[in-house]
Amino acid sequence: MESIQAIKQRFGIIGNTPALNRAIEKAIQVAPTDISVLVTGESGVGKESIPKIIHQLSHRKHNKYIAVNCGAIPEGTIDSELFGHEKGAFTGATQTREGYFEVADGGTIFLDEVGELPLTTQVRLLRVLENGEFLKVGSSKVQKTNVRIVAATNVNMFEAIEKEKFREDLYYRLSTVDIHLPPLRDRHEDIHLLFRKFASDFALKYKMPTIKLTDAAVQLLEKHRWSGNIRQLRNIAEQLSVLEQNRTISAETLKSYLPTVGANLPAVIKHTKSDTDFSSEREILYKVLFDMKADLNDLKKLTLELMKTGNTKDVEKNNESLIQKIYGNIDEDDADYEEDPIENSEVLSITEHTATLEKNDSVLDKYHFAEEIEEEETLSLQDKELELIKKSLERHSGKRKLAAAELGISERTLYRKIKQYDL
Ligand SMILES: Nc1ncnc2c1ncn2[C@@H]1O[C@H](COP(=O)(O)OP(=O)(O)O)[C@@H](O)[C@H]1O
Ligand SMILES: [Mg+2]
Repeated sequence: MESIQAIKQRFGIIGNTPALNRAIEKAIQVAPTDISVLVTGESGVGKESIPKIIHQLSHRKHNKYIAVNCGAIPEGTIDSELFGHEKGAFTGATQTREGYFEVADGGTIFLDEVGELPLTTQVRLLRVLENGEFLKVGSSKVQKTNVRIVAATNVNMFEAIEKEKFREDLYYRLSTVDIHLPPLRDRHEDIHLLFRKFASDFALKYKMPTIKLTDAAVQLLEKHRWSGNIRQLRNIAEQLSVLEQNRTISAETLKSYLPTVGANLPAVIKHTKSDTDFSSEREILYKVLFDMKADLNDLKKLTLELMKTGNTKDVEKNNESLIQKIYGNIDEDDADYEEDPIENSEVLSITEHTATLEKNDSVLDKYHFAEEIEEEETLSLQDKELELIKKSLERHSGKRKLAAAELGISERTLYRKIKQYDL
């Protein structure tokens, strides 16, 4: 069995990360079998060399190796590409055509971006994987083929299965062995090594002196996110090699070649994005809780002292620092308000809200209360008034003039009242 190092040399694979070595080792181990292999990893991590290794180290190496990019073939023609078609199967099918599965009989087919396969094609693929049978498009004649499949994907297959974009049975059939290639940002020690390799390749290609990075530039290179992985690193090495007059590349120069949007974030962030988000949120909550608890303890202490001594001035004097800690310095308060409007507006809005509620409540209460009293009083006043008028009229034998004089009102007013009370 060829060693991992020999394979790397033969296939031009640079790097020494344990995860990369493990992936190559797995490829070497499964190569002599006919087991289906699914290569996973982000775009640009080097997935394409795995099926090549597998094919070359297998008994199929003298037969065909066909790499198919499933994502690049239009949905309408992919069945015909893979399985062929009969003459007259569809408009334009002037001749019978052999598909890749027929051509590669005895060899290996690499299905790149397998997650992009239409569901109808997935059914055909499952059949050919299970018993080597397939039908040309427009034909009812079952054909046989002996093809080894290595598939690759950069999409989350479980998600695709959940969304019913990929058949679960096919997924398990394809991924009997899973070979995962790590993203470049997780291959820290390989980044500069790969860059030097590309720099020397491009120096040769463009017949120019090899570019070299300063220490600061190496640091920048190593902490970059490389969302496009090795493909992206290679492109940047090429651009620098061609465009830079000064063959010593500073961090500044390198920076101008690196995309800025979201790409300069430290590598760890993307790796455990949700975790990081969650933990930072949790940290903030903890901090708020701890601060609140501390404030509460301080307040308890103050209240207790106030209860014990009953002397506000003394307590204020003895606990100056504590009071300042809880309520802040009066002079500083204004500054805080300017500096941290969010925090203050929150507190403000709460106070304001409470205040408004209290005000409203009390106003409402007073209003109800006042209304009841007023009504009662009005009633009793009316009653009293009515009684007084009645008695006065009785006393003066119905003589309004005398009654009005006694009541201290004009005769006219009395007349109105008599009407009002229907006397
Ligand atoms: N370990 C490696 N050493 C050298 N070049 C590599 C390595 N891995 C990937 N590359 C190069 O990076 C580019 C992208 O690799 P590729 O296999 O097409 O990625 P993927 O299929 O995962 O998107 C290719 O040019 C390939 O030659
Ligand atoms: Mg690829």
